[in-house]
Amino acid sequence: MNKIRAVIAGYGNVGRGVRQALARSRDLELAGIVSRTPDRVKKELDDAVPVMPIADIPAWVAALRPDVAILCGGSKQDLPKQGPELVKFVSTVDSFDNHSRLPEHFHAMDDAAKTSGHVAVISTGWDPGIFSLERTLANAFLGVRAYGFYGMTANGGLSMGHSDALRTIEGVQDARQYTHAIPEAVERVRRGENPDFQPGDMHTRECFIVPKPGADLDKIRETVVSMPGYFAPYKTTIHFITQDELNSKYAGFPHDGLVIASGKTGDAGHPADIEYHCRWGSNPEATANVLVAHARAAARLSGEGRNGAFTILSIPPAYLSPLDQEELLAHWM
Ligand SMILES: NC(=O)c1ccc[n+]([C@@H]2O[C@H](COP(=O)([O-])OP(=O)(O)OC[C@H]3O[C@@H](n4cnc5c(N)ncnc54)[C@H](OP(=O)(O)O)[C@@H]3O)[C@@H](O)[C@H]2O)c1
Repeated sequence: MNKIRAVIAGYGNVGRGVRQALARSRDLELAGIVSRTPDRVKKELDDAVPVMPIADIPAWVAALRPDVAILCGGSKQDLPKQGPELVKFVSTVDSFDNHSRLPEHFHAMDDAAKTSGHVAVISTGWDPGIFSLERTLANAFLGVRAYGFYGMTANGGLSMGHSDALRTIEGVQDARQYTHAIPEAVERVRRGENPDFQPGDMHTRECFIVPKPGADLDKIRETVVSMPGYFAPYKTTIHFITQDELNSKYAGFPHDGLVIASGKTGDAGHPADIEYHCRWGSNPEATANVLVAHARAAARLSGEGRNGAFTILSIPPAYLSPLDQEELLAHWM
């Protein structure tokens, strides 16, 4: 069987996770890595992995012959620009995670993919991604809103976006932000109240900040708690710590989340609850595994002559699986 050849486009935390996931896959293989900073990437890897500059797309498409490119750039700056360019040459999968701009990204990718005859799977990972599917299924089956909670464990879940926001503040050397679900809010949903939560009713935020020498701590604190969108609506706790403490106690990328829907069925109003919980020791590695499953689906859709943009909602689950139809029917139904 010919393996599906995947190129990693952009090599950061998620890109590293994709490389490891491809090495474990039985039907996909790493064709190469393309990057804006190939020298940096080459230093990290052994010579067996081809690494090429991302800019000359026709050159690396010709050299690496990918069936699919797994785009691992950042959602803010990279994917909206790189996605429509790359899908002109090869089918793509990305984990674009800006929910408010997701329809815009879908249409940009759909137009470019239809014009070139490729497949673009967008916004997959765990949220958006797995949780989008679970929310949609819960709503379809129970007709109620499905709620998303993040950071159910004692330490909470690391939010990369909020950590980045803290690092932009003057006087901050380094920082990590952990999100905590509010247990009473989870219980209200489980009781079937279907509350109309405002931002700040479901989660609290805990910040571990390494200040620069001589920084004004009160000013940093005030800037954090008043930051619109990110922290202002939330109960926020701030700890000032040293770089050594941050490096030793708060390493890695742990995260977790829970989708809950609570409804009723029948004339008697019997309770009907759906919960779906993911716990990740490494958020980027988990995201990478989901991306690789979608790369398989992208290659299969493309092999059938399909084109345009797809999401996890429009791809049959069997297309994600390495198992064949008979195996799925016999053991997984
Ligand atoms: N849907 C989901 O559930 C989900 C979950 C997690 C993350 N995500 C998305 O995944 C995206 C990527 O996350 P990430 O953690 O992998 O971001 P990241 O580590 O910051 O990497 C993003 C890009 O920055 C460049 N880069 C990384 N390290 C660099 C360095 N040391 N020097 C210079 N350039 C460097 C790489 O591009 P080049 O190789 O081209 O330089 C890389 O592709 C996020 O923006 C987020 O939107 C989605």
